[in-house]
Amino acid sequence: MSKLIINGGKKLFGAVNIHGAKNSVLPILAATVLCHGTSIIHNCPQLSDVSASVNILKHLGCKCFYKQGTITVDTTEIKCSRIPDNLMRKMRSSVIFLGAILARCGNAVISSPGGCELGPRPIDLHISALKRLGATVSENHGLIELNAPDGLVGADINLSFASVGATENIILAAVTARGTTVINNAAKEPEIVDLANFLNSCGARIFGAGTDTVTIYGVNQINCCCHKVIPDRIAAATYMAAAAITGGEILLKDVIPSHLNAINSVFEEAGCTIKCDSNSLYIKAPCQLSRVSCVRTVVYPGFPTDAGPLILAILTKANGTSLFVENIFENRFRYIDELCRLGANVKTEGKIAVVEGVNSLSAAPCKCTDLRGGAALVVAALAAKGTTVISDIYHIKRGYENITQRLSALGAEIKEI
Ligand code: EPZ
Repeated sequence: MSKLIINGGKKLFGAVNIHGAKNSVLPILAATVLCHGTSIIHNCPQLSDVSASVNILKHLGCKCFYKQGTITVDTTEIKCSRIPDNLMRKMRSSVIFLGAILARCGNAVISSPGGCELGPRPIDLHISALKRLGATVSENHGLIELNAPDGLVGADINLSFASVGATENIILAAVTARGTTVINNAAKEPEIVDLANFLNSCGARIFGAGTDTVTIYGVNQINCCCHKVIPDRIAAATYMAAAAITGGEILLKDVIPSHLNAINSVFEEAGCTIKCDSNSLYIKAPCQLSRVSCVRTVVYPGFPTDAGPLILAILTKANGTSLFVENIFENRFRYIDELCRLGANVKTEGKIAVVEGVNSLSAAPCKCTDLRGGAALVVAALAAKGTTVISDIYHIKRGYENITQRLSALGAEIKEI
């Protein structure tokens, strides 16, 4: 298994292009199942999660081609409505295909997605919403089967939690349902707006995406379109953290600054200088990072859970004590034991983490526990004295395109073996 070797202590300088958003590409690839014909999706990053989604599309009978960041998907032929266990296990978020397959085929079978590194990832909100739209559900032997032989019918759906995936699955199922669907307490993440924009370009009628009430007027059929995926705001936060912890200054290109408002505020409270242009962001680290009184992870537009590990990593070297409250995933802190191997002083209790800043971090072998936790180890290793070896980096490859090349270009001493 490959590892990352990082020789810490180098300040990062220069410019980095931010790749397309993983959490936008995945639901948009699922949405192509609704189209009859060929869709072209630009700005798709080369990630293992994206490859997993392409493999699911091919398994369903679609023709897919990936060339220089563009995925061409021909969904004229869909011969199967079942995602097998081996493909489901490759990527837990494959559940996002459920609504689109059900709407297109009248039937969908997935293996129970189970948990992931972040804890149990129930899909009760997805299932109850799809039942509201007229699907019948049966679960046995680890398989979940949904049926709607007469098609789906629009309904009012109240989400008890503003779940990103559930909001996306409801939109995908409702686009060609008969009648109108209203989602109350919908998630407002930018990736949901991107999905709605893709679908509306294909002829769907979705209103209110990005607000907590989304209305979908069902249409008989949607066509295909060309679409460019938005930039990945969490990848942006990751490179900002790399600059902040090494005392450097970098320019992030191809970002949407307004997607980073909550993230920018925390970096500024930690002492960083941030200047935004229409599609770029400049960040300069202070000589010494300051503590941040409290970081609470909440749904968008609040501070995102996925950026939590990256900010926590830089605060391990801040002057003072910072408090973290993780409100979204119960196992989000699994990476912290590994971070402490690098000399960080972090205590966790339930959803609370207390970060006592230390003067310096020191290299040690460590292991990725999940995608963003793995990225946090890379950020910390960039500032740790000595050479850190990070293993199980397959987690990082799920969500970061060419992270080694991008960090090397900024002056980091990093290589993959
Ligand atoms: C999406 O996951 C993202 N994944 C996550 O990124 C992100 O952390 C999360 O949203 C929150 O922003 C993708 O978009 C592919 P949720 P999702 O449904 O949709 C509970 C990454 O690797 N819940 O908003 O699964 C759930 O247990 C990932 O990039 C239910 O209880 O997130 C969790 O505690 C990590 N029942 C909370 O809601 C349900 O039916 C957030 O889940 C669904 C969710």
